[in-house]
Amino acid sequence: MKFEQYHADLRVQIDYQLEQHINALPEQASPLSDAMSYALLGNGKRVRPLLMSIVSEMLNIPQGKVSSSACAIECIHAYSLVHDDLPAMDDDDLRRGQPTCHILYDEGMAILAGDALQTMAFDIIINDPLLKDKEKISALSLLSKASGYKGMCGGQAIDLTFTDQLIDLNTLTELHQLKTGALLQACVSIPMVLAGDINKDAQKALILFAQKIGLAFQVQDDILDVTSDSATLGKPSGSDEQANKSTFPALLGLSAAQDYLDKLYSEALNSLKQLPYETDPLRDFAQYIIKRNY
Ligand code: IPE
Ligand code: IPE
Ligand code: MG
Ligand code: MG
Ligand code: MG
Repeated sequence: MKFEQYHADLRVQIDYQLEQHINALPEQASPLSDAMSYALLGNGKRVRPLLMSIVSEMLNIPQGKVSSSACAIECIHAYSLVHDDLPAMDDDDLRRGQPTCHILYDEGMAILAGDALQTMAFDIIINDPLLKDKEKISALSLLSKASGYKGMCGGQAIDLTFTDQLIDLNTLTELHQLKTGALLQACVSIPMVLAGDINKDAQKALILFAQKIGLAFQVQDDILDVTSDSATLGKPSGSDEQANKSTFPALLGLSAAQDYLDKLYSEALNSLKQLPYETDPLRDFAQYIIKRNY
């Protein structure tokens, strides 16, 4: 199946599953559930579930076994976006082509919607009837690490610290790896742990792929912030420059940032060569990440 079709089908599937999770919330139609639903069910690309699905198929894991983790990671991602857009962080008013959560609701409700989406992520895995307890603990452990202190939140903290401040290349790389790379890496490491019997070399190669592509994802996000427009992005273009954010285009210039992106892409493809699997879908995924225009 063509990559575009695979992605389109996956989006439909994930959107449906996420909607089911929202519908399962008790006491519907509260302001909090409205704000959670708004943030989660908006027009996201569902890139993280997509990566998880591709890796799972490659490792021969039954789809049903990763659905809860795929939905959980999308809940964490949606929460990270709601908080990222808040006035105390990036102060943005457009997301996925719609007003940001705190604009449509209010700041307090947006903070709580983010918090509740985060705990919902863990709840989804805990209540998955298809996973053994041991598998749940492994998935929860990887997801909580990727989201927290040495993951997404840690990266966002470096992002805030180095707003309006000169950053060095190593710190900028760490910032990107944590705030965005960590969750994308979990999309590979969770299926890997659910598959159970992957040899060490293959594990290393897959993790390396995830690291390169996770970093590339944020570099492309930073490039698009400079080169694209708000209508295409569905979020405000030029937001990074306006807020004086530390990004690769800001530190290196646009053309060197593009070269760096190309380098990460070829390193990601190289890591796939050592894998004893059919890796074309991961190649397509990598190409999509660096070529996407929103
Ligand atoms: C945006 O993520 C935030 C970053 C980590 C760069 P996405 O580009 O995956 O956002 P959606 O989910 O498609 O809206
Ligand atoms: C955000 O990075 C990464 C997150 C953890 C949400 P950005 O601040 O660049 O993401 P966008 O551009 O607002 O989507
Ligand atoms: Mg940000
Ligand atoms: Mg932002
Ligand atoms: Mg951005």
